[in-house]
Amino acid sequence: MNTQTLLTGQILTFSGDPFAQAWEDCIHIDSVGAVLVEGQRIVAVGKAEILKAAHPQAKVVSYGSDLICPGFVDAHSHYPQTAMIASWGKQLIDWLNTYTFPEEARFDDLTYAQDIAARYLDLTAANGTTTIASFATIHPHSVDALFEAAQARGQSVVTGKTCMDRNAPDDLRDTAQSAYDDSKALIERWHGTGRAHYAITPRFSPTSTPEQLSALGALWAENPTCLMQTHLSEQPDEIEWVKSLYPQARDYLDTYEEHGLLGDRGLYGHSIHLTPREIDRLAEMQGRVIHCPTSNAFIGSGALNLPELAKRGIPLGLATDTGGGSSFSMLRTMAAAYEAAQHHGHALHAAQLMWLATAGSARSLHLDHEIGSLTAGNYADIAILDLNSTQAIAQRANRSGSVWEDVFATVMLGDDRAVRATWIAGACVTA
Ligand code: GUN
Ligand code: ZN
Repeated sequence: MNTQTLLTGQILTFSGDPFAQAWEDCIHIDSVGAVLVEGQRIVAVGKAEILKAAHPQAKVVSYGSDLICPGFVDAHSHYPQTAMIASWGKQLIDWLNTYTFPEEARFDDLTYAQDIAARYLDLTAANGTTTIASFATIHPHSVDALFEAAQARGQSVVTGKTCMDRNAPDDLRDTAQSAYDDSKALIERWHGTGRAHYAITPRFSPTSTPEQLSALGALWAENPTCLMQTHLSEQPDEIEWVKSLYPQARDYLDTYEEHGLLGDRGLYGHSIHLTPREIDRLAEMQGRVIHCPTSNAFIGSGALNLPELAKRGIPLGLATDTGGGSSFSMLRTMAAAYEAAQHHGHALHAAQLMWLATAGSARSLHLDHEIGSLTAGNYADIAILDLNSTQAIAQRANRSGSVWEDVFATVMLGDDRAVRATWIAGACVTA
């Protein structure tokens, strides 16, 4: 029998969606709780005293009054942009041409791709992130590099070869046919192997011809368990550009739909400036909107009205969008999501933010049956948060009467210093 480990502390659990019902009815913190881990999985969650008595042989790891929560799930990022995060002074199209494409061209070198993949997984684990949905580059081996690095850590990753056959530099362009062939070969090599999940990845409509979008739509129809990730309605200039490139499309979302790229396994990053028709259609099709609030602020894209989309029943995920996003931290990302909603007159509760960064993102990736909540049977992907990690947070937390005020202080003021430990598939990876 595997050794069992009992993690004790304050335990965050969910019994529903806090955007569909009152958060108090579906999000709970047990101040004297425990999570029992065996092998890669959680086998029980409950009161510390009861689990200790029932499993006297389990090794106890006491986290005192730290918050034990599901590991964070970052539903949209670009691991190849790790080394150029925080690049100054540009908005989307200029930012891509000036900083992003030259950096992504460096991934022609497999060793560079492997180095950055390992660096990225270290940085995200230090921030409590246990699952990532990341774009790779145009190079198929950039997908191998991330899946291999993740597999060595027992980690769940969603990624795919970024496809671009126009409006990109020569060394970053494929073709409709090679994008189809290379993506198909990667699906056969990786999809469903261990914890690897493939996402068919057209970067966005401006960098694909209609022929390439059609080829990728066909590939998705042939491989319906794959995810599909792309960008949608991020900046006004980009939307105008899409209109000029696809004059017959009803709107930006339609450029995907008319090529077979709209579905409930579709992940649409940003989706800020949607028309009422696009919102209706996403709601109808259950397309996933992935909120990237630090990126939306950093490259000047705008503030998503997330509560409005939630009200329409659109499934939502939360993401850093590294390196358009300005942080690897999902805590910083939750803070930015709070601030973006304030622009629309909504105050998200800390419980809603924590849910979005874990169970909400997991649901957006169709992985909520195995990650995103502390539930028996799920992988033991866990983040431990110190709720007094800095002087600024401790002095704020000490004033508060409720644990939720403490959690909110850590969400708004916290960073990797708040992450005491990260567990992936039952092993502590940050010790
Ligand atoms: N749109 C197309 N590519 C990108 C990218 O790499 N980052 C962001 N933020 N938006 C994009
Ligand atoms: Zn992105």
